[in-house]
Amino acid sequence: MKKAEIVTDQHFLLAETDPRIFGSFIEQLGRAVYGGIYQPGSPLADEEGMRRDVLELVRQLRVPVVRYPGGNFVSGYHWEDGVGPREQRPARPDLAWQVIETNAFGLNEFVSWAKKADTQVMMAVNLGTRGPEDAKNLLEYCNFQGGTYYSDLRKQHGFAQPHGIRLWCLGNEMDGTWQMGHKTAEEYGRTAAEAGRLMKMLDPSIETVACGSSNLGMDTFGTWEETVLDACYDQVDYLSLHQYYGNYQGDSADFLASSVGMDEFISSVVSICDCVKAKKRKQKKIHLSFDEWNVWYHSREADEKLPRWGTAPHQLEDVYNFEDALLVGSMLITLLRHADRVKIACLAQLVNVIAPIMTSDTGAWRQTIFYPFWYTSRYGRGTVLQTLVQSPVYESKSYGTAPYLDAVLVWNREQEELTLFAVNKSLEEDLEVSCDLRQFAGYRMVEHQVLAHPDLKAVNTEENPDEVIPAAGENASLRDGRLTAVLGKHSWQMIRMGKPQEG
Ligand code: AHR
Repeated sequence: MKKAEIVTDQHFLLAETDPRIFGSFIEQLGRAVYGGIYQPGSPLADEEGMRRDVLELVRQLRVPVVRYPGGNFVSGYHWEDGVGPREQRPARPDLAWQVIETNAFGLNEFVSWAKKADTQVMMAVNLGTRGPEDAKNLLEYCNFQGGTYYSDLRKQHGFAQPHGIRLWCLGNEMDGTWQMGHKTAEEYGRTAAEAGRLMKMLDPSIETVACGSSNLGMDTFGTWEETVLDACYDQVDYLSLHQYYGNYQGDSADFLASSVGMDEFISSVVSICDCVKAKKRKQKKIHLSFDEWNVWYHSREADEKLPRWGTAPHQLEDVYNFEDALLVGSMLITLLRHADRVKIACLAQLVNVIAPIMTSDTGAWRQTIFYPFWYTSRYGRGTVLQTLVQSPVYESKSYGTAPYLDAVLVWNREQEELTLFAVNKSLEEDLEVSCDLRQFAGYRMVEHQVLAHPDLKAVNTEENPDEVIPAAGENASLRDGRLTAVLGKHSWQMIRMGKPQEG
């Protein structure tokens, strides 16, 4: 059996996990909103039309922040269309997704939904077809106390108190030629600087996110980040990263190595941020907002065949399989291993659209990727420890050398709990992992969860929602300060250790 070793030290602390790395994303797209979080008239909906079964699953995921309303959608959006009396709201063609947006659901409904879901709103502004002035107006509508045109309009719409939205995305994927109002780095950097400046003049308590590249494959990657930050360093707090992966070639080993690509992507963007910081002799560090990440490829072919100008069609409805869940587990480990710089991350998306939660008119169920997210969001909060992961490796086609073992240790000092998240990517062999934990005197095994399945392509469906679910693990022990665990081939694992609480 292959062996791996994790080396750590109680004094080598990487960073506190910012809970916002367990964020997610709802775009006005497909059935994310309509038939997803919102379905008035459904017996499953509450008095405001919010799906209660979906709210329950979202709360289980403990998502602290949800980005809204896009995505590509936001770059042509007039937020005014989605507020005020419903019967007066106009239907519009959404050019991004080639559908009709009825505007029956808008920002006030989203704010209400977010409260019910125990989450905060991360609002994106349209810097595609609109600009700084409209972004400032939207902020005034949301956050200004009253006595001005837009804040009084909010009051007229039934919201006496400001929404108090703290986190603002300055546009979406503005480097993409597919984006409405696509810009060069110079154009976008300048627009983001002005939007950020006006918005912070109105409400200095907000934080802003500038658009980084749409993905690592963009020709302009690198120069885009540098040019944009050169222009708007003082007006922004975070730079965004987006990346989706897919097993297009049917090569599971290569697909599972995608987290190596994600890791390198993050390190590269950190370097660029710090390069601009040095050039500008700034004290302020720009942190990262990985505000779109997931597996996305299953639904692409079907989406190309969809007739145009439907309303809330089945778009981007990836049915996730077991290997997707393994990669999502690895991507979460990767985000945690960069907790010193990645402060926000959004699993894209949350319901129906490339999502951990699916719905039909009769119910909601958990996709395979729900589970690693659920456990990591629940137990991945605390201090990420620096670790040296000594693992056997394999050669992947797209990402070069990849370790079989992905692992991270999170120490919750308040609760006196230490949690290991690990993925064994080997498709053939179990992996024996050990770790010297003598410094954690008095710690015992608390819980061991394993997500495993003999079939990498197994899925959860409405008819069979529990095909891929976690089960209690049996092959781990913590004896004389040494953790030893046998991780089954292609499995995700969580091992929770802690000190028995007094009384
Ligand atoms: O999440 C789906 C889409 O992916 C978003 O609208 C866009 O920002 C990205 O390209």
